[in-house]
Amino acid sequence: MLSEKMWNALNEQIKWEFESSYLYLGMAAWLNDNAYPGFAHWMREQAKEEQGHAMKIYGYVEERGNRVELLPIAAPKKTWESPHEVIEQSLKHEEMVTGLINRLVDLSQEEKDHATFAFLQWFVKEQVEEEDTFRKVLDELKLVKPTCSAMLFIDRHMGKRSGD
Ligand SMILES: [Fe+2]
Ligand SMILES: [Fe+2]
Repeated sequence: MLSEKMWNALNEQIKWEFESSYLYLGMAAWLNDNAYPGFAHWMREQAKEEQGHAMKIYGYVEERGNRVELLPIAAPKKTWESPHEVIEQSLKHEEMVTGLINRLVDLSQEEKDHATFAFLQWFVKEQVEEEDTFRKVLDELKLVKPTCSAMLFIDRHMGKRSGD
C-alpha cells in the first residue's frame, strides 16, 4: 500500500497527465482549424502519449493495492497566435511537468517508498525526451516566419509522426 501522501501525489499526477493530454488536444483542435493538419496530427499523437502516462500511473496505484481517485481537469485555452506559440507553450508546460515529477521523486525518498522511487525513474527519463522533442520542433520553427511557405513543408513533416 502507498502512504497517504504518496497516494495523493500520484492521483494528482494522473490528473496532470490527463490535463496535459487535454491541453494538447485543445492545441490540435486550434491547429486543425487554422489549416495546420500536420501539426494537429502531431499534437493528437502527443495527447495520446499523455493518456498513456496517466494510465501508467493509474495501473501502478492499483498494483500497490490502492484505489485510484480521479480529480477534475481544467479546460485548456482555446486560441493561440501561431504554431510557434503552441510549441513554445508546450515546452513550458513540459518543463512544469518535469518539476512535478521531480517533486514526486523527492516525496518517494522522504516516504522511503523504494518501489515508487523505482517506478518514477521511467518518468524522469521520459521528461528528458519530452523536453528534447518539443525543443527540437521549436528550434526548427525559429528558423522560419509563420507566414513563410516553409511552414507548409514543416506541417507536412509533422503530419508523419507515428504513434510510439
Ligand atoms: Fe506526460
Ligand atoms: Fe509530456
